[in-house]
Amino acid sequence: MNKVILYCRQGFEKECAAEITDKAGRLEVYGFARVKDNSGYVSFECYQQGDADKLGRELPFSGLIFARQMFVAGELLEDLSPEDRITPITAALSGVVERGGDLRVEVADTNESKELMKFCRKFTVPLRSALRNAGVLGRQDSAQRPVVHVFFIAPGYCYIGYSYSFNNSPFYMGIPRLRFPADAPSRSTLKLEEAFHVFIPHDEWDERLANGMYAVDLGACPGGWTWQLVKRNMWVYSVDNGPMAQSLMDTGQVTWLREDGFRYRPTRTNISWMVCDMVEKPAKVAALMGQWLVNGWCRETIFNLKLPMKKRYEEVSRNLEHLQSQLNEAGINARIQARQLYHDREEVTVHVQRLWAAVGGRRDER
Ligand SMILES: C[S@@+](CC[C@H](N)C(=O)[O-])C[C@H]1O[C@@H](n2cnc3c(N)ncnc32)[C@H](O)[C@@H]1O
Repeated sequence: MNKVILYCRQGFEKECAAEITDKAGRLEVYGFARVKDNSGYVSFECYQQGDADKLGRELPFSGLIFARQMFVAGELLEDLSPEDRITPITAALSGVVERGGDLRVEVADTNESKELMKFCRKFTVPLRSALRNAGVLGRQDSAQRPVVHVFFIAPGYCYIGYSYSFNNSPFYMGIPRLRFPADAPSRSTLKLEEAFHVFIPHDEWDERLANGMYAVDLGACPGGWTWQLVKRNMWVYSVDNGPMAQSLMDTGQVTWLREDGFRYRPTRTNISWMVCDMVEKPAKVAALMGQWLVNGWCRETIFNLKLPMKKRYEEVSRNLEHLQSQLNEAGINARIQARQLYHDREEVTVHVQRLWAAVGGRRDER
């Protein structure tokens, strides 16, 4: 298998292709990306045998911005007979994966593939049973074993392959399924919730998204992001000139500040989270985030970077590199992750966790 298939938002195939080409190259894996506009996926074909598996193992999935999922794949299976698609798929996977821990029969996230998705749901049950009998899947699901992927791009046409459970998205089609909470004041609430699911491991939620923490929400109105923080019993400073939803104000957990988010400075020293959804130039937002992190005004942040019209991958990379060097210069060790989330449109969401800062030659653990 010498390909890697990456799922992305429809219309962002070029960005996904630019990113995989760049990041594979840094691992000295060379190949070329095949892009079909608006297909919702990219296929990256490696020149050297074994390199696709190397990417599947060693290219950190969490470091990819435009890919929602990544798996190692073989040649496209074509023209499968509607009478029996199971035999050729099982044959192609036999010997490639053994005792896989899960099966995902998927499609790209496009309007055109909605019908195909219904087929995938029905097809999963008999395929799973055949793959179990062939030893491609283990007898029971296991979160530690590779995930088997069957990715239909059209009826009778699919890529098959695997991803490593330690280096993939745990979600079907790479999309966490979230329900809009009826009492949240705006749909963008789902963006912050998705960011928590993507960036914060579940077993760390109790510690990192804890009751009683202090948070700041810059550009908060009408309060969808604030709602997520309030739901986790945090005390929130919501900064925006626009009005906040009364239901949030009634909780007593929100302090609404009608100020400019770029000028606002926190008055407490124990802010755990700063989130920011202000619509502004990405460089201006990134500079503000850098300032908060360098000064230690918050421990973690989630913010959006609006994408420009062109060279979007390059622009996002430049902003993130600049932020990284600002932190490096200040002696701050931080983890930066960025992803175009399912609920993001012309933007990406960034998460930064400040780990420690060097103070006079020693580490100041925060
Ligand atoms: C996309 S909306 C935020 C939606 C919010 N996250 C939610 O979930 O309901 C952007 C908000 O940023 C605010 N905003 C833009 N520039 C700002 C600034 N310089 N200072 C404070 N707020 C600003 C706007 O007033 C607007 O309410």
